[in-house]
Amino acid sequence: LTKTRYPNLKRGPFSTLGDVDVQFFERLLPGTGRVLADASEIEGYNTDWLRTCRGCSELVLRPKTTEEVSAILNYCNTHNLAVVPQGGNTGLVGGSVPVFDEVVVSTQLLNQIISLDELSGSLVCQSGCVLGTLEDYIADYNLTIPLDLGAKGSCHIGGNIATNAGGVRLLRYGSLHGSILGLEAVLPNGEILDCMSTLRKDNTGYDLKQLFIGSEGTLGIVTAASVLCPQKPSAVSVAFLGCESFSKVLDIYKQAKGMLAEILSAYEFLDEASVAVNKENLKMTSPIGDFPFFVLIETSGSNGDHDEEKLNTFLEAMMSDGLVLDGTVVTESTKIKDIWSLRERVAEGLLHDGYCYKYDVSLPQAKFYDLVLDMRERLGSSVIRVVGYGHVGDGNLHLNMTSPTYSSEVMGNIEPFVYDWVSKYSGSISAEHGLGFKKRNFIYHSKSKSAVSLMQQIKKSIDPNGIMNPYKVLPEE
Ligand code: FAD
Ligand code: MLT
Ligand code: ZN
Repeated sequence: LTKTRYPNLKRGPFSTLGDVDVQFFERLLPGTGRVLADASEIEGYNTDWLRTCRGCSELVLRPKTTEEVSAILNYCNTHNLAVVPQGGNTGLVGGSVPVFDEVVVSTQLLNQIISLDELSGSLVCQSGCVLGTLEDYIADYNLTIPLDLGAKGSCHIGGNIATNAGGVRLLRYGSLHGSILGLEAVLPNGEILDCMSTLRKDNTGYDLKQLFIGSEGTLGIVTAASVLCPQKPSAVSVAFLGCESFSKVLDIYKQAKGMLAEILSAYEFLDEASVAVNKENLKMTSPIGDFPFFVLIETSGSNGDHDEEKLNTFLEAMMSDGLVLDGTVVTESTKIKDIWSLRERVAEGLLHDGYCYKYDVSLPQAKFYDLVLDMRERLGSSVIRVVGYGHVGDGNLHLNMTSPTYSSEVMGNIEPFVYDWVSKYSGSISAEHGLGFKKRNFIYHSKSKSAVSLMQQIKKSIDPNGIMNPYKVLPEE
């Protein structure tokens, strides 16, 4: 416990793990690789994707069934052991790793697909299914997952639900609050909460599943879910465009909404500094020249000729109006992937600089890029770079700064400045990544006292002993 890297934070009044506890879990989860206690084996479970948060758990449990999860939580609750649920460990706010010595319950082996109704598109699976695996599975049935993000090769659907992940398809399919038709969760006392359903419509009482979507592991462990999967679009095109200012990025968006309308499926932007990360740190190349801003537009539909005609008419208009300076359009799947990589791999590229200060905010679109400019001016040469990219269509900016190693001076210049800035424009300090460990104490910048107080009451009534993912989401008391 003395190994904790958070000396100013007090450990909760939880028990410490003993040999008797480990023996109980070994009996509960027989077979190899289900109870990990070896320091080298569990190191990865203690460290987050950004390598900025580290815990010192001594035990990782890998259940395969809901009943096993139930027995684990029942035991932990009775014996006052704190728990952190972990999916693919791609979370970006330190929510998926222990803060002290919490027991890690990993969903890696809860990875079975349970059923698929081809007509309605409802897919029922365990929560540890990897998002990309689900996408590959349902592609054979001409269906697609309503959620896509750069971490799809590792993140789990349960982790996506727990963080209410947004990603690059939200513009088309909306948030998981609409796409998750049902779920099953194990409550902190081990009780199994059955909110499973494959129905589109069901107004019978409070919609309890919504509480777990975005709860970041603080209310229980999601063990299975039903996902509404739309028809896979048969025609997809991607345009990568260069333009001279952020206001042009917004002008093009306005035109795209009107001229591409129902076939517009994604609208993303990157600034020049973001593309430089790809080039310098990942040795990637851009299919067009250098411009201050880049726009990635995806269209998806059922008739390639129709979509192509619409996209060409749109692009001609954008070029002749001088909104777009140069661009390329691709329709072949490997080329589409390459262009999407330019957008999706910025997060990975930034890590090559050393330490990444990551912010994920919602703002009125017109104000969006001013924050990046203000931050650049404020931090000057104290950082390697300040970059802005993100989901323009959703009003969601990703603002990132890097330095060779963590600097408390740089951090002091970023926080609380960035949160005050966002709050001033009634934005959200976390658009899609959640609050986790890193951002929980800034919750009041986006939520009222009365709302936080009700959240605390809900937490207390579901998890009276506070064993589920302590030190996360809700502010320090
Ligand atoms: P983890 O990281 O393991 O956990 C995340 C949180 O959920 C933790 O608080 C954990 O305790 C909890 N949790 C996990 N599983 C369960 C469960 N079964 N039951 C209860 N609680 C659980 N996010 C976006 O919103 N949009 C993006 O576009 C996006 N892109 C990303 C790109 C990259 C390269 C990376 C690394 C991350 C990205 N993320 C994005 C952030 C991240 O939220 C998502 O990757 C994903 O939703 C996390 O899933 P996971 O399985 O890795 O969860
Ligand atoms: C993205 O959209 O690329 C992700 O949310 C990751 C990030 O913010 O860096
Ligand atoms: Zn994002």
